[in-house]
Amino acid sequence: MTGCDHTVAWRALQGHFEAHGRDFDLRDAFARDPARADAFSLEAPEVFADLSKNRWDLLARKLLLDLARETGMPARRDAMLAGEPINSTEGRPVLHTALRAPRGAALFSDDVHTVLDAMLAYAERVRAGDSGIRAVVNIGIGGSDLGPQMVVPALNAHAIQAIDMHFVSNVDGHDITPVLARLKPESTLFVIASKTFTTQETMANAEVARQWFIANGGRDIARHFVATTTNVQAAAAFGITTTFGFWDWVGGRYSMWSAIGLPIAIAIGEANFRALLAGAHAMDRHFADTPLERNLPVQLGLLNVWYRNFHRFPSRSVAPYHQGLKRLPAYLQQLEMESNGKGVDLAGETLPYDTSAVVWGEPGTNGQHAFFQMLHQGTDVVPVEFIAVRTPSHPHTSLHVKALANCLAQSQALMLGKTFDEARRERAPTASNAIDPDTLARHRSFPGNRPSTTLVLDALTPRSLGALVALYEHRVFTSGAVWGINSFDQWGVELGKSLCNQLLPCFDTGDTTGLDASTAALMRRLR
Ligand code: F6P
Repeated sequence: MTGCDHTVAWRALQGHFEAHGRDFDLRDAFARDPARADAFSLEAPEVFADLSKNRWDLLARKLLLDLARETGMPARRDAMLAGEPINSTEGRPVLHTALRAPRGAALFSDDVHTVLDAMLAYAERVRAGDSGIRAVVNIGIGGSDLGPQMVVPALNAHAIQAIDMHFVSNVDGHDITPVLARLKPESTLFVIASKTFTTQETMANAEVARQWFIANGGRDIARHFVATTTNVQAAAAFGITTTFGFWDWVGGRYSMWSAIGLPIAIAIGEANFRALLAGAHAMDRHFADTPLERNLPVQLGLLNVWYRNFHRFPSRSVAPYHQGLKRLPAYLQQLEMESNGKGVDLAGETLPYDTSAVVWGEPGTNGQHAFFQMLHQGTDVVPVEFIAVRTPSHPHTSLHVKALANCLAQSQALMLGKTFDEARRERAPTASNAIDPDTLARHRSFPGNRPSTTLVLDALTPRSLGALVALYEHRVFTSGAVWGINSFDQWGVELGKSLCNQLLPCFDTGDTTGLDASTAALMRRLR
C-alpha cells in the first residue's frame, strides 16, 4: 500500500506549500481575487460553507483533490457504503449510513427499520405520559452518551417540555448523585445505553441506579429500565426486558442514529427523529454522489490534511454561535480524535506523518471571553470553525443579531488583524498612558492571516442538525482515508481500562507491590 506521503500529489503539495502556502496571505488573496468568496463557497444539503478564509488557493485545492483520488479515498468511501469490512482490525463493515437510509435503500434495511419503528413507537408511548414518566436518565458514556447529550439541548425548541432529560456518564459519583436526588422512582425511566453492555462506568452507574430505585420504593424494574445495546443477553441478565438492539457494524461514536438515539426520540418525537435521519441521509447522498470539486465533507477533510501535514497546525477550534450546540465540541472530540487519533497505517506500519489534530472549542460568544485571546495573538495558528445559524428559535432578535455580528467579527478579526501602524494611530486607553506608545502598539497589534471556516445553517432543526453531524462524520472519513488509517477502531482506550482493573484491588488491599514509584505513592495518598 502506498502511503499518502509517497503520492505524486503529496510531492506537488509540498512544492506548492513551499512556494505559495507557507507565506500565503489571506488579505492579499482577497485583494487579488474579488471572486474568492464565491470560488471557495460550497452548498451541501442544509449547510452552506464559506471556505474562503482558509490559507489555500485554487491550486492547493486541486492538488488536495488529486491526493484524495490518488490515495483511493473515493473507492474506500464506496467500499464503506457497500458494506465491505473496512474496519479491518475488528473485521466489520462500517454502516452507520444504513441507519438513516429510507426503507429498502441500504443493507440491513429490514433489521434497521424494524428496530427503528419499535424504538420510535416506544418513545411515543413515553411521551404520551400514560406511564407517568416525567424524567429520563440516559446512563452511557462515549458514543452511548455524547450524541444524545449533544442533540437533546440542540433541539430543545422541538422537545417535549413535560419530560426532563438527564445524562449520566462519568463513573465519578458526583455525576449521578445530584441527578438521583432530584428524581422519584415512579416517574423515572432509566435508559442503560451501551453497545457492549460491559463498559465499567455504565455498568457501575446502572447498578447504582437500580439500588437507588429499589431503596426508594421503586417496584417494577422491567418498566423503569430499558436498554439500548448490541448485547441483548447481558441486558437481560441485568433484569431488563425492554431492549432496543443494534449491530456491531455501528461504531459507538457513529451510533446516535441507532437505538442509542432513544433519548433523542423521547425528547423530540418520531417525526422529528425521522427528520434528523433524513437530514443525515441527504448529506450521505451528497458525500456519495457529488463530484469531489463540490463535495463539502471531502473538502473539509482535505483541508484538515492540508493544515495538519503541510501547515503543521496542531489543533482546530470549533465555535458554534448557537447555545444549543454547546456540546458539539465535546461530540466532535470523540468523533474526530477517537476516529483519527491513530499512529499506524492499515498495515500496522508506524506513520511518518501526523494524523488527527486536537479538536476543541466552546460556543460563541463565551469562547471570545476565554481563549480567543490566544487565537488572535498567541504563537500557534489555530484554524477556527464558526457555525452560524440564520434564524433563531427564540424571539429575542436583538440578542440574535449580536450573536451573528460577533461571529462574523471574529472571523474578520482573525483574518484582517491589525498592523502596528493601525494600532499606533489609535488613541491609547487612559489607563495605559504610562507606557511608551510604540510598546503599547506592539501589544495592541494583531498578526491576522488566521484561517477560519464558517458553516451556515438556515435554522437549527432536526433535519439540519442531522446533515451537520453527517457532514462531520464524512469529513473524518475523508481525512482518515487519505492518511490510510482505520478510522473505526479505538484500541488506544484499552490499556487504561485494563490497568484500571488491575489497580482496583490495590485500593482494597493497599498492596502497591510491582507498581511504579509514582503510581504507588499516589495510591497511598488517595486510599
Ligand atoms: O471509549 C471507548 C468506547 O469503546 C467508545 O468507543 C464507546 O463509544 C464507549 O467506549 C462506550 O462503549 P459502550 O457503548 O460499549 O458502553
